[in-house]
Amino acid sequence: MSDAGDASGEGARASLDYDALAAAYARSRGGPHPGVLRALIEGAAPGAGGPDPGRGGVEVGCGAGTYALALAAATGCAVTGIDPSEGMLRAARARAGTATFRSGRAERLDLPDASVDLVFSVDVIHHVTDRAAYFAEAVRILRPGGQVCTATDSHEMIRRRRPLASHFPETVAVELRRYPPIERLEAEMAGAGFQAIRWQQSVIAYELKDAQAYRDRAFSSLHLIEPAAFARGIAQLEADLGHGTVAALWQYVLLWGAKPAR
Ligand SMILES: C[S@@+](CC[C@H](N)C(=O)[O-])C[C@H]1O[C@@H](n2cnc3c(N)ncnc32)[C@H](O)[C@@H]1O
Repeated sequence: MSDAGDASGEGARASLDYDALAAAYARSRGGPHPGVLRALIEGAAPGAGGPDPGRGGVEVGCGAGTYALALAAATGCAVTGIDPSEGMLRAARARAGTATFRSGRAERLDLPDASVDLVFSVDVIHHVTDRAAYFAEAVRILRPGGQVCTATDSHEMIRRRRPLASHFPETVAVELRRYPPIERLEAEMAGAGFQAIRWQQSVIAYELKDAQAYRDRAFSSLHLIEPAAFARGIAQLEADLGHGTVAALWQYVLLWGAKPAR
């Protein structure tokens, strides 16, 4: 699929082609964020250790399948990954695991009413052009009491990203325009009928040893800055890595809501 647009203004869509990005994405972003995966397992059915095995969960914008496959492996439940990019779906289907993958978009989830325990997305909500339609679809396909979870970056996180904000500072303004603020998402979820809206953060600090994922531009914001800004950032990152590791952060806000239990 081709994510065309000029990336100007909140909610604008990036000039991104996830079909072309799929290989770099699967290579560079192969494993799930451990804190996000743990939260999905625990939060999907508090006290019950995960979604009901039969109903299971849906990952919207599953990309190369990282979270859908990890959640299915950790819980044994059925997980369906949905994405509009055929390249991403091919990469997901090529990986070992029990999740199933199908083509689709957040705004129109082709699943029956009240059929799943959990609807979640990781790093996707800034791509969804009609979030009201998405949250309405999530309410529709969740069983009463089922949970929606949106893993995204807050504006504060975007400003303190390492090494994106530190080495590619031009990404910050681009991303502040693209990512909806958390308070706006909370209001949209409430408008769709979700209750018990809450959020948690999961932040991992680590030492970056290698610039390959950045050279590959496996982060969409690196496609949205001027080539000169990208070249400056890569040169600085490689120079810093020449002297040792670079302090990095892997961080998410997880925003949860529950469909009323009737
Ligand atoms: C940054 S990737 C995240 C992939 C995966 N969730 C992960 O964290 O590894 C964003 C994904 O959102 C998908 N996407 C873009 N627009 C979408 C939409 N309207 N509905 C569902 N997915 C969408 C893209 O095709 C891409 O695979």
